[in-house]
Amino acid sequence: MPEGKTVSVRPGVTVLAAARQSGVHIPTRCGGKMGCLMCKVKLTEEESSHVLPPKEEERRKLGTLIDEGIRFSCQTVVHDHVQVEVPEDPLKAAVRRQLESARNRDREDFI
Ligand code: FES
Repeated sequence: MPEGKTVSVRPGVTVLAAARQSGVHIPTRCGGKMGCLMCKVKLTEEESSHVLPPKEEERRKLGTLIDEGIRFSCQTVVHDHVQVEVPEDPLKAAVRRQLESARNRDREDFI
């Protein structure tokens, strides 16, 4: 989510690897070593039971974000069907908001 892409992977694969396999871009710089802290994804509470629980280092690095369902995709290991939300890239989000704003202005000018 939000692209609605689906991919089948074997249990034991990370969410980051599954995303790459499905063509979903998750930003990273450390290659999955939990060094860049860029690969955050969001899971609902129900979905969290479909992945292995976070290890202590991941818990420590995420802090209170873990209570909101945030995980590092490179550390999140799938063991059942799971739906993951990939937050929108901040730059893409800014461009999308500007385009929507311009579109709304054009509509108002037309009316
Ligand atoms: S890929 Fe860098 S923290 Fe996950």
